[in-house]
Amino acid sequence: MTDQTSNVTEVKAESRIFPPPAPFAASATISGMDAYYALCKQAEDDYEGFWANLARENLHWHKPFTKTLDESTAPLYKWFEDGLLNVSYNCLDVNLQKGHGDKVAVIFEADGGEVTKVTYKELHHKVCQFANGLKSLGVGKGDRVVIYMPMSVEGVVAMQACARIGATHSVVFGGFSAKSLQERIVDVGAVAVITADEQVRGGKHLPLKAIVDEALALGDCEKVRNVVIYKRTGGAINVLEGRDIWMHDLVANQSDVCEPEWVSAEHPLFILYTSGSTGKPKGVQHSSGGYLLWAILTMKWTFDIKPADVFWCTADIGWVTGHTYITYGPLAVGATEIVFEGVPTFPNAGRFWNMIEKHKATIFYTAPTAIRSLIKAADADANVHPSKYDLSSLRLLGSVGEPINPEAWMWYYNNIGRGNCPIVDTFWQTETGGHMMTPLPGATPLVPGSCTLPLPGIMAAIVDETGHDLPNGQGGILVVKRPWPSMIRTIWGDEERFKKSYFPEEFGGKVYLAGDGAIRNKDTGYFTITGRIDDVLNVSGHRMGTMEIESALVANPLVAEAAVVGKPDDTTGEAICAFVVLKRSRPTGDEAKQIATELRNWVAKEIGPIAKPKEIRFGDNLPKTRSGKIMRRLLRVLAKGETITQDISTLENPAILEQLKQPL
Ligand code: WTA
Repeated sequence: MTDQTSNVTEVKAESRIFPPPAPFAASATISGMDAYYALCKQAEDDYEGFWANLARENLHWHKPFTKTLDESTAPLYKWFEDGLLNVSYNCLDVNLQKGHGDKVAVIFEADGGEVTKVTYKELHHKVCQFANGLKSLGVGKGDRVVIYMPMSVEGVVAMQACARIGATHSVVFGGFSAKSLQERIVDVGAVAVITADEQVRGGKHLPLKAIVDEALALGDCEKVRNVVIYKRTGGAINVLEGRDIWMHDLVANQSDVCEPEWVSAEHPLFILYTSGSTGKPKGVQHSSGGYLLWAILTMKWTFDIKPADVFWCTADIGWVTGHTYITYGPLAVGATEIVFEGVPTFPNAGRFWNMIEKHKATIFYTAPTAIRSLIKAADADANVHPSKYDLSSLRLLGSVGEPINPEAWMWYYNNIGRGNCPIVDTFWQTETGGHMMTPLPGATPLVPGSCTLPLPGIMAAIVDETGHDLPNGQGGILVVKRPWPSMIRTIWGDEERFKKSYFPEEFGGKVYLAGDGAIRNKDTGYFTITGRIDDVLNVSGHRMGTMEIESALVANPLVAEAAVVGKPDDTTGEAICAFVVLKRSRPTGDEAKQIATELRNWVAKEIGPIAKPKEIRFGDNLPKTRSGKIMRRLLRVLAKGETITQDISTLENPAILEQLKQPL
């Protein structure tokens, strides 16, 4: 753990409070703090009964469960294990049975603005046909399938089709490189890869199938029997006879009836890779029953979802937010949702506002980075200012993925919500499956920059290094004291790492360690997240491990040593700053700039463009203790451009600080 966030004793006092608008509260699912506390009390009084009732009320069970929570193998907790269900059945068939077949499930808007609407009946049809297609390739229950696709109806269909046949999907974000993709294909042991010929972003065509070819050619992918290709652009690709098949050919003669595979509630629905504090990304394994239950409940509680809502989550299906709040949550509650292929700045930075106006979105859920960059754009160009658009359809706003600074919060509240939409600042993680702490829009008085309070049933607390509770007002380590249904089940193929990362012995082995620091307000008890306490960076809401980037850098033949730290950034929240020692002498001037560019491109190739360091500085050495440990806290100070005031008496080579002070 780093010393980055420990011992926080106060965060800047924020005294603005925004109570829920009365009309909102009047019709909200959780309509006030009394209702919230009543639910919390139910969970405290009878924890298992609380979850069991919710699971019975909210999910369709093919065979009911008899045991709610099995703690005998803790921390490998099991929820509703002997119950049988199917996630895709719960998302699609259940809605058809309720008579929602003709309701629009997905409003898809392509990068270029073309709109396609798909009803629940049509989506069911597509999913069943594709599921049958996968079956015809021999894919079945327990197989793993990697999905490397653009934002599309077909991406959602691919995920749902896997769920329907009991195959476990692992979606890899389309911005990851061939090497990252190959590592995930190998680690998860995929038998098939589903991709597209190309993806389109901001008017540009980017290859996907070619990257899959490159990934498979890197080796160790013998288990992959087939590559299924969705034709997005018709761009030229290689089709390997016998292995590759077009999605439209695969589904052409398939029946639109596909009996769901009934699986245990514990059956792995998906594995999603995320960065941790060591080099290798972790395959976070999620369940079927517990996961879907929480996706549904948070749609109801956090988003107060109603039949007439048009829900828009701007995340990509390559991240957990896209899994829970695009592919599963909104469909499982029978909502109409927007799926967007493009980027917020194309054809101009008014794109989001234009789409809200056009589709009459009522709930809008995005990341602080997007908000911050659109604030800048609106300031620079009055034509893309939200005041130019009719945003009156909106009734609720959400924020996810990183801390939202109070200035951005206020702008979002006033300019997008026009002062009458609550903002749900949702704190959660890939590992938690769904929201953990968030205001309830019809109940919780909002404070800018605070995710306020845990959802009912989530036993969040702040403890010190030895696991003891800390009083409000004192910053410490965020933990969750009891298992909850949508929690990570294990790290795929690495139970030991799972236990060590999330249930460390220092904390008794039974509380979940989130990896974030937090502090509770003395008066309100509200939580504010103070940032990661491990070596994980959050750049534009994307999780990046510093060691992952360091390993990529030292894999370059020029590089002897590298240390990566985060530095605050106005737009992306954090930015990656790399301190590099070359095998040759330290470059300066233009040469240094040229090598820096080379290294940035190298990292893009090794991991993906999202991992490119914003800044690279070269030194003859790195600041180290006499025992050879790199002093990252000093590098963090240098990256920020601040003067070092810390004790540097243990530093082996103080002169190096001077050299590393200057940006290139
Ligand atoms: C950070 C994204 C502050 C946090 C859903 C967490 C946040 C990491 C918030 C998980 C928030 C997420 N306020 N910080 N509302 N939401 N984070 O796995 O550091 O991509 O541990 O999941 O993002 O990122 P992940």
